[in-house]
Amino acid sequence: MSNLPPEKPKTILIAGASRGLGQAVAAAFVGKGWHVIGTVRDGGRTDLHALADAWPDQITIAPLDITDPAQIGALRERLPSGALDILFVNAGTANRDAATPAARVAPEDFMQVMLTNALGVMRTVEGLQDLVKADGLIGVMSSGQGSITNNTRGGFEVYRASKAALNQLMRSYAARQAGDPRALVLMAPGWIRTGLGGPGAPFSMEETIPTLVDTLIAQQGRPGLRFIDRFGDTVPW
Ligand SMILES: NC(=O)c1ccc[n+]([C@@H]2O[C@H](COP(=O)([O-])OP(=O)(O)OC[C@H]3O[C@@H](n4cnc5c(N)ncnc54)[C@H](OP(=O)(O)O)[C@@H]3O)[C@@H](O)[C@H]2O)c1
Repeated sequence: MSNLPPEKPKTILIAGASRGLGQAVAAAFVGKGWHVIGTVRDGGRTDLHALADAWPDQITIAPLDITDPAQIGALRERLPSGALDILFVNAGTANRDAATPAARVAPEDFMQVMLTNALGVMRTVEGLQDLVKADGLIGVMSSGQGSITNNTRGGFEVYRASKAALNQLMRSYAARQAGDPRALVLMAPGWIRTGLGGPGAPFSMEETIPTLVDTLIAQQGRPGLRFIDRFGDTVPW
């Protein structure tokens, strides 16, 4: 019989876990016995609150709008350095009319998408990176739409540009972190039925999220930046 103390549960912080893919990722990690710190924007009850009702010992809910540096700083202060095995920044948005060519998109919509998907994500990564263990993983939700190589059909112009910008910013971040043992992941989940993905997307969350979560977990301990799909296959830049 072993006298070893029980293993401490691993911890993931998911930024943007109120609904959609973020909440589903939270549920999958809870199912694997992880402790989940899930963030929501200020407001009422969310799907994450319903999940926390069922798993109160495994879920902590914290407020965070990723476009507000003060809220990122406040979250950083709440947690000790090295508290996280994985930091996963899932939050993202799209402009209202995805079919509109970029030049005809209202400047405030353009700025909101870029502010959230590129600057907000990077501020969250930079602001919370010290929370991640030395051998941990920092992941962000990118998109296959962010691949410049694969963009042969157009559409979703501003959203695509925001995810390509995010990919480029993560490459700059990785270049600054050369030699860091942590794994860095840009995740392209596939087109999935959510508020953002819409009802016409080919895949459900049930079909996709378990695979995505297994892939994320498998990336731990593999230093360097990778742009991968939910199966772990490389997506061309
Ligand atoms: N669904 C797809 O097919 C698909 C494909 C590729 C990539 N993605 C990416 O996957 C991520 C999740 O998308 P989804 O499909 O689950 O969309 P969703 O259902 O619209 O959920 C978006 C999530 O992001 C949060 N969020 C948005 N802006 C935020 C901000 N400023 N601060 C904090 N949280 C914010 C939302 O919080 P609130 O509830 O407060 O609004 C919500 O939790 C996004 O990055 C998206 O670009 C999705």
